[in-house]
Amino acid sequence: MNIMTFNTNEELNQIGAGIVASLIQTKPNAVLGLATGSSPIGIYQELIRLYEKGYVSFKNVHSYNLDEYVGLPEGHPETYRSFMNTQLFNHVDINKDNTRVPDGNAADLEAECKQYDAALAQASIDIQFLGIGHNGHIGFNEPDQQLHGGTHVVQLKDETRQANARFFDSIDQVPTQAVTMGVGSILKAKMILLIGRGAEKADIIHRALTGPITTEVPASLLQTHPNVVVLLDKEAAQKFND
Ligand code: GLP
Repeated sequence: MNIMTFNTNEELNQIGAGIVASLIQTKPNAVLGLATGSSPIGIYQELIRLYEKGYVSFKNVHSYNLDEYVGLPEGHPETYRSFMNTQLFNHVDINKDNTRVPDGNAADLEAECKQYDAALAQASIDIQFLGIGHNGHIGFNEPDQQLHGGTHVVQLKDETRQANARFFDSIDQVPTQAVTMGVGSILKAKMILLIGRGAEKADIIHRALTGPITTEVPASLLQTHPNVVVLLDKEAAQKFND
């Protein structure tokens, strides 16, 4: 595991975007596993800047997002599809037909999960972006006695709904369920780019990366992956210096 700590968010974003841009330069049809939340936004902004400067093209890139809320109306600004369009896809030359986000409004969610897994089985993700929840969740794989390998519907924990309530007018509007890629699919990515920002993530990141491997901290499973790059700002990295 390669853990890098940065003094400024600007440097973190530049290195993160550089890793992704280098991949796309050598493999124009790279497959990206994308994440939402605040953690990856700065890297997406830097990728947009690199695209605008002509250093990278997403024309042949394919992408798969980690997760999506269940039941938010299509076009709602907090759907992860809207997030991806606003934060990245609308600003680069990616073909939106080549971007997939689970459909949280599918009439048959179980069938949607199966279709998503079938698509992932063909795809082979080159770089998987990941943030981390305060309770150690990755995607929406919440702490539990057992974890799912494949895409599934998950009941969101209260703490996750509370953490994400900042994006909604009130907690009542935060969906109670989501569709998420499973930990098995995440761990199949060739490289994982875990991004952590802010002091409130310091403890869980340290536990996930140095503590016991346990389904109660889903991100701890990343310790079993051979190619994880961790990008931390100095606040999120503070427990590594204790
Ligand atoms: C959500 C997403 C996760 C994300 C997490 C942390 O729950 N489903 O993929 O990692 O939030 O978000 P943030 O980066 O805003 O702290």
